[in-house]
Amino acid sequence: MTQQTNQSWGGRFTEPTDEFVAAFTASIGFDQRLYHHDIRGSIAHATMLARVGVLTEQERDAIVNGLQEIEADIERGEIEWSVALEDVHMNIEARLTDKIGITGKKLHTGRSRNDQIATDIRLYLRDEIDIVAEEITRLRKGMIELAAQEADTIMPGFTHLQTAQPVTFGHHLLAWQEMIARDHERLLDCRKRVNIMPLGAAALAGTTYPIDRHVTAELLGFERPAENSLDAVSDRDFAIEFTAFASILLMHLSRMSEELVLWTSAQFDFIDLPDRFCTGSSIMPQKKNPDVPELVRGKTGRVYGHLMGLLTLMKSQPLAYNKDNQEDKEPLFDTLDTVKGCLRAFADMVPALRAKADNMREAASRGFATATDLADYLVRRGVAFRDAHEIVGKSVAYGIAQGKDLAEMSLDELKQFSTMIDDDVFEVLTLEGSVAARNHIGGTAPDQVSAAAQRARDALSSLNAVNPSAQGA
Ligand code: ARG
Repeated sequence: MTQQTNQSWGGRFTEPTDEFVAAFTASIGFDQRLYHHDIRGSIAHATMLARVGVLTEQERDAIVNGLQEIEADIERGEIEWSVALEDVHMNIEARLTDKIGITGKKLHTGRSRNDQIATDIRLYLRDEIDIVAEEITRLRKGMIELAAQEADTIMPGFTHLQTAQPVTFGHHLLAWQEMIARDHERLLDCRKRVNIMPLGAAALAGTTYPIDRHVTAELLGFERPAENSLDAVSDRDFAIEFTAFASILLMHLSRMSEELVLWTSAQFDFIDLPDRFCTGSSIMPQKKNPDVPELVRGKTGRVYGHLMGLLTLMKSQPLAYNKDNQEDKEPLFDTLDTVKGCLRAFADMVPALRAKADNMREAASRGFATATDLADYLVRRGVAFRDAHEIVGKSVAYGIAQGKDLAEMSLDELKQFSTMIDDDVFEVLTLEGSVAARNHIGGTAPDQVSAAAQRARDALSSLNAVNPSAQGA
């Protein structure tokens, strides 16, 4: 990057900016990422200015061609960003003037960097949201298909991480899918508020030129122009909202990661995570570490940090634009990079998970997972639930002492605790009987899981059908 005197606002200054201050206040180091959206916004602005007669058609053409050339220059790596020119907007404008002469200086008519940057971030974030939505779609599909495949694979269900009742692995995966489905909806809802156009607000109060904000909004695919110029240039709640979405999504991915880490341990040994998602240890030759889920769990913290950072950035700002807002970009960009990386890892990894069905089943058959089923059986035979709970509690205590699960006891052993128990009890004490009995919407019965997987497929396609921006539907 080169140092030069700022030509964009230097008029009232009597000495050049201190070199440290120039570097300290510059954003070009990170906002260059916005170049494509900045150029897109400028082309729309110039087109609108020509439409309302503020620029001639020749001026517009010179500007539009110049900007397109600059974009190509940037993509060929031919631009040297200048710190003295502060940010992406002034770097591009200065280059435009170098290229096309005095007409380049007309581009900024009726506009300020304040509405320009607010527009750029919204355009950029809108495109990124569409990429994130595609990855979420891919992840949801992977979860749904694996769930359908594992609809009758039995595993222990946990509360307090203690064996509670048998469930199916498909049911567990569809629980994950529900979490991500809500995140998906939150994302698409956030997109609606991102897709509002600040351009035309100018510095803060609007502009004296006869601009037509509907034209610019339409050219840029925005839903509408922002209602209030002061609000349009100042608030970054849309970026905060995206980061809040991202925090909740990563909270979910982190919970799933925790389960994957547990399940790949020798103690659980419920799943196999293919080698390509794992790494080894430089000292312990036997190790195969679940690094990908561990890292996703770890990366969650930085996104929470960005949410707190952005909230704090905004909280004390008076209207309208303040330079504080320049600090919105790095947390937002890092949130985007992190979310895209974690989603990609998960969307690749989930379809590759292999259930170790025998181990899952074995674990479910320990820990008295069908104790509730025995209590429900007694209730069906007229015993009050509290009494049934007590009877089963005593059978479990007996089982612990004898080292036997309920299904492993003889009828006579069971009858010691209640004469109401008959030989049909074994139907409910089996793992298959237990899951099959929970046969209602939202329950873990294999038939319900298959039906739920189909509903999830349908819900995903209709969500993507009403959101034309979403790909991969
Ligand atoms: N780099 C600035 C930002 O990121 C652009 C807007 C600057 N506006 C100003 N009046 N200094 O927010």
